[in-house]
Amino acid sequence: MAGRFGGYQNEIYLQGLAGTTPPMSTDLTALEEAAAAVLTPEALGYVAGGAGAGTTMRANREAFDRWKIVPRMLADATDRDLTTTVFGTQLPAPVLLAPVGVQSIAHPEAELATARAAAGLGLPMILSTASSRTIEQVADASGDGPRWFQLYWPNDPDVCASILERARKAGFTALVVTLDTWTLAWRPRDLDRAYLPFIRNEGTAIPMSDPAFRARLEKTPEEDQPTAILHWIGMFTGTDRHWGQLPVLRELWDGPILLKGIQHIDDARRAVDAGVDGIVVSNHGGRQVDGALGALEALPGIARAVGDQAEILFDSGVRTGADAFKALALGAKAVLLGRPFVYGLALGGEDGVRHVLRSLLAELELTLGLAGYRTPGELTPAALQRG
Ligand SMILES: Cc1cc2nc3c(=O)[nH]c(=O)nc-3n(C[C@H](O)[C@H](O)[C@H](O)COP(=O)(O)O)c2cc1C
Repeated sequence: MAGRFGGYQNEIYLQGLAGTTPPMSTDLTALEEAAAAVLTPEALGYVAGGAGAGTTMRANREAFDRWKIVPRMLADATDRDLTTTVFGTQLPAPVLLAPVGVQSIAHPEAELATARAAAGLGLPMILSTASSRTIEQVADASGDGPRWFQLYWPNDPDVCASILERARKAGFTALVVTLDTWTLAWRPRDLDRAYLPFIRNEGTAIPMSDPAFRARLEKTPEEDQPTAILHWIGMFTGTDRHWGQLPVLRELWDGPILLKGIQHIDDARRAVDAGVDGIVVSNHGGRQVDGALGALEALPGIARAVGDQAEILFDSGVRTGADAFKALALGAKAVLLGRPFVYGLALGGEDGVRHVLRSLLAELELTLGLAGYRTPGELTPAALQRG
């Protein structure tokens, strides 16, 4: 067997004999343009947009372009296996679905469609605090699928504890704490349309269904939605957040904890000193600090500094199998796929997300083999050259 995922290629060619072509492009860099035809301008701006002039988003892609794969020949790479172990759990491939909030603006089935597609392939979905469906609804859709929970850390301890308890009960195993978005960046594409989904009650299903949050309100969200929304938004001021508070989360969560948004080696070291289990090297897809370094530029140094003490995951700019290959070679244990699956969701719901994931996995598996490797574990920086 050549590998579990590469077969999508033959499946597509064989379907061609019956006159069928894939539901959308297999070039995942082309999906933003395709999704532009089906998303509202507001939704497209929210998903595709970034901070400021978009230079960090561009830097994310340029960082990938600067590294070149150097293929090896006659390397006996016919049998490939993408299986990867993260936090002691085996995953079919080193790929997870990045936490993306407000998926209702992309498709009516929102996070439920994403959960089903991810579960079908056995890839972990990371559910955002800004989900447009409740924790329990998404867990239901995910069934036996692996699932992690992403926390935007609210400054009300009871609400924080309640949300985490719900996530734990609903079968979410790892906790991803996003540090880079304690306030929203200056995002011109949203500002120009005066568009913020949350104040329109999109992406607020988790607090609105949370007993501890509801207990804080004089009137229920059903009676007075604007006040409920403003109360929720007010919980994310970043006030009182510092490294010394991480033990609080450890008390509330007994599974693995990862910090998302790490870019500086010293922060990676602090994270490890604070006892976290993993780091997501990420700049939030260029949505927070404009003029920042491409996230891939930060990866090798962080992997060298703390890669033997914590699981290093990566996102920001991953679009193709070759991109995933490069991030794995530079020290990531797994990559998080972000915008491309959202475009798949917009274009085709659950089927669209599945197509995007299968395309990425097939391309990764083929790239791995054609470059002369059989497993992600064989990849080291020696597989690349800085060009
Ligand atoms: C529309 C959108 C919503 C997002 N929502 C969240 C979120 O709720 N929590 C979070 O930690 N990251 C969020 N992110 C960031 C992603 O998890 C990830 O870091 C980013 O998409 C990576 O960049 P890329 O998609 O360009 O590869 C969001 C990204 C997008 C595009």
